[in-house]
Amino acid sequence: MPPALYDSFIADYYDEAPLVRQRTQDVAFYRDAAREFGDPVLELGCGTGRIAMALAQMGKRVTGLDLSERMLEHAARKRAALNKEERERVHLVQGDMTQFDLGEKFQLILIPFRSFQHLLEVRDQMACLEQVRKHLRPAGRLILDVFQTDAERIHDPVHMRESPLVEYRTHQGKQVRISERVAAFHRAEQRNDSEMIYTIEHPDGRKERLVFAWPLRYFFRYEVEHLLSRCGFRVGAEYGDFDKTPIRDDSPEMIFVAEPSG
Ligand SMILES: C[S@@+](CC[C@H](N)C(=O)[O-])C[C@H]1O[C@@H](n2cnc3c(N)ncnc32)[C@H](O)[C@@H]1O
Repeated sequence: MPPALYDSFIADYYDEAPLVRQRTQDVAFYRDAAREFGDPVLELGCGTGRIAMALAQMGKRVTGLDLSERMLEHAARKRAALNKEERERVHLVQGDMTQFDLGEKFQLILIPFRSFQHLLEVRDQMACLEQVRKHLRPAGRLILDVFQTDAERIHDPVHMRESPLVEYRTHQGKQVRISERVAAFHRAEQRNDSEMIYTIEHPDGRKERLVFAWPLRYFFRYEVEHLLSRCGFRVGAEYGDFDKTPIRDDSPEMIFVAEPSG
C-alpha cells in the first residue's frame, strides 16, 4: 500500500496536539451512541484509536480501520496498554474506507472527526457509503461528522495568511507552535488545500518547521443528506454539535445519524 497522508510526522504529534487532546465531547457522544445502538462497532479512519479505545474500555467490541500505518502503530501501542479483556475487544485493520471487506457485519459504523472529508471525489464518498451499507446490520446505524462549512473560509484571502493556533510543550520537552493557513481555494471542487504548520524547538535547542499539507473536502448539509439518500440511507437525526443541538447558522459541526432505508 502506498504511504498514506498521515504516514508523516503528524502521526507522532497527533494525540498530544491540544486540538485533539481537548476534543473530549465527541468521545462522550460516540460512547453514548455505542450505549444506545450497541456493538460490534466499526470505526472508519480510526487513526491512533482515540475513540476506538474509549469504546473498548466501556465494554464494546470495536474494529478500527485506517489507511495510515503510522497512525495504526500508535493505536496498536494504546491497545497494548489496555487490560487483557479490553485489548481482546479491539481489532485494528489497515485498509481504505472506500474499498474494504471485513467479512463481518456491524451494529454501528462511525466515521468520526471529519475523516470523511478526506474523500475528495463523489465516487470515493459513494464507494465508502456502499461499503458501509454492506457491513451494516439491518437495524444498524452509521454516524459521521463533518464540520459545518464557514463561507469565509472558502474564499477570503485572510485565511491564506499563516495564523497561530496554539502553543504547547510535549511530554518529551519539545516546545511546539501550531499555525494554519489555506494554501489554495478550489471552490469548484469544494476543496481547500490546507496546511498545518508545526514549529518545533527540541530540548537540545534544534529548531524544525514541519508542514502537514492536505486537501480537505467541505460539505453542505443538504448535499450530505442527498448523498446518504442516494446510497441507501435514511437520516434519523442530525446535530450541529456533540451536545445534540440542532444544526444552526453558527453550529461548528454537522453530525448525521443514518440507518439503512430498506
Ligand atoms: C482526523 S483523523 C481522525 C482519527 C480518529 N477517527 C480520531 O477521531 O481521532 C483522520 C484519519 O482518517 C484516515 N483516513 C484518511 N483517508 C482514509 C481512507 N481512505 N481510508 C481509511 N482511513 C483514512 C487518516 O489516516 C487519519 O488517521
